[in-house]
Amino acid sequence: MNPKLETIWNDLNEESSKIKSTKDALTLKGKFIGKQGIVPGLLKTIKDLPIEEKKTFGKEVNELKVKIQDKLFNLVESFENKGSTSIDLSMPGLQTKTGTLHPITQTIQDLTHIFKKLGFAVETGPEIENDYYNFEALNIPEHHPARDTQDTFFIDEKHVLRTQTSGIQIRTMENQKPPIRIVAPGKVFRVDHDVTHSPVFHQIEGLMVDKDINFRHLKYILRMLIHELFGQERAVRFRPSFFPFTEPSAEMDVSCFKCNGKGCRLCSNTGWIEILGCGMVDPNVLTGVGIDPDVYSGWAFGVGIERIAMLKYAITDIRLFYENDLRFLKQFIKA
Ligand code: DAH
Repeated sequence: MNPKLETIWNDLNEESSKIKSTKDALTLKGKFIGKQGIVPGLLKTIKDLPIEEKKTFGKEVNELKVKIQDKLFNLVESFENKGSTSIDLSMPGLQTKTGTLHPITQTIQDLTHIFKKLGFAVETGPEIENDYYNFEALNIPEHHPARDTQDTFFIDEKHVLRTQTSGIQIRTMENQKPPIRIVAPGKVFRVDHDVTHSPVFHQIEGLMVDKDINFRHLKYILRMLIHELFGQERAVRFRPSFFPFTEPSAEMDVSCFKCNGKGCRLCSNTGWIEILGCGMVDPNVLTGVGIDPDVYSGWAFGVGIERIAMLKYAITDIRLFYENDLRFLKQFIKA
C-alpha cells in the first residue's frame, strides 16, 4: 500500500481503539470519510496526478475508503448492540406521563362500585330513545305536562335524545323477571345551559323490584349511598315530591357540606342540599311491563352524576367538566 495511505489506516486504527461510544465513532467517521474528511480530500488530489499514478493511487484510495467504511460501520454497530457505554445508568429514568380517568367517569365508577357490592347489576340503554321508553311507559302520556318540564331534544316525532336514564328501568323490566336489582348510568340530554346545567349530562338510575319491597328499603339504601360517598356525618331527609313513574315520590336532601345544616349561601340558608329524586315504582308502570303490582313492588331513584361530583369536589361551574383543561383534570389523578 502507498505509505501515505498506510499512515492514514494506522491512524484510524489507533484512534478507533480509544473511542468509548457511538458518538465518538461517528466523530471519527466524519474525520476520515465525511464530506470534508481525509479520504475525500485525497480523492480530490487524484485529478492532478500523472496518468499511471492516477490509476493505481485512485484504486488504492478507493479500497482504503471501503475498508474504513467497514471498520467504522462495525464499530458503531458494536456500541449499539452492547447497549453501549454511552448510556449512563446513574441518570434518572424518563418518566412516562399517564392519563387519568375523567372525574365524571370516576364518579360513575364510585357509584356503580357501591351498588355492585350490594348485588346490583349494571345496565345501559340507547341515547337516542323512542318516545315510548322515554315517556309513555314511564306513565308520561302524550300532552302530559311532565314532557314540557324536561326540555326535550327531538330527533323526529317518535325519537328523542333521552332526557333521563329512567327508560332503562322499562327496558330491564321487559326483559327480566323479578327479583330485579340494577343501576343504569349514562348520558342524558336537555335544552338547558348555565353554570349548573349542561345540554349533555349524566345520570344514574337505580331500580329494585321484588316481593315485599317498601319505602324503608329505599331509605336504607339511599342513606347508605350518601354515607359511602360523602361520609357518615351527612344527614339525609326525604321530602314528598312528584314523578309520574313513582307513587309515592320523594326528593332526598343531604345536610349542607359547607355549614353542616346551619344555613349558608351554598344551601340558600336552608341547611339542606337537594340531591336526587326517588319513589316507589308506580303500579301503572309495573302493569305496563307485565309485572303484577299485587305481587311485586319496587323502588327507583335517579341522580345527576355531575351534581354528585360538584358537591364532592366543591366545583361551582359544570362547564369545567367538559372543557378538557388539563389544569382542571390533573387534580383528579388518584394517588
Ligand atoms: N328521571 C328523573 C329526572 O330526570 C329522576 C328520577 C326521579 C328517577 C325519581 C327515578 C325516580 O327513578 O324514581 O329528573
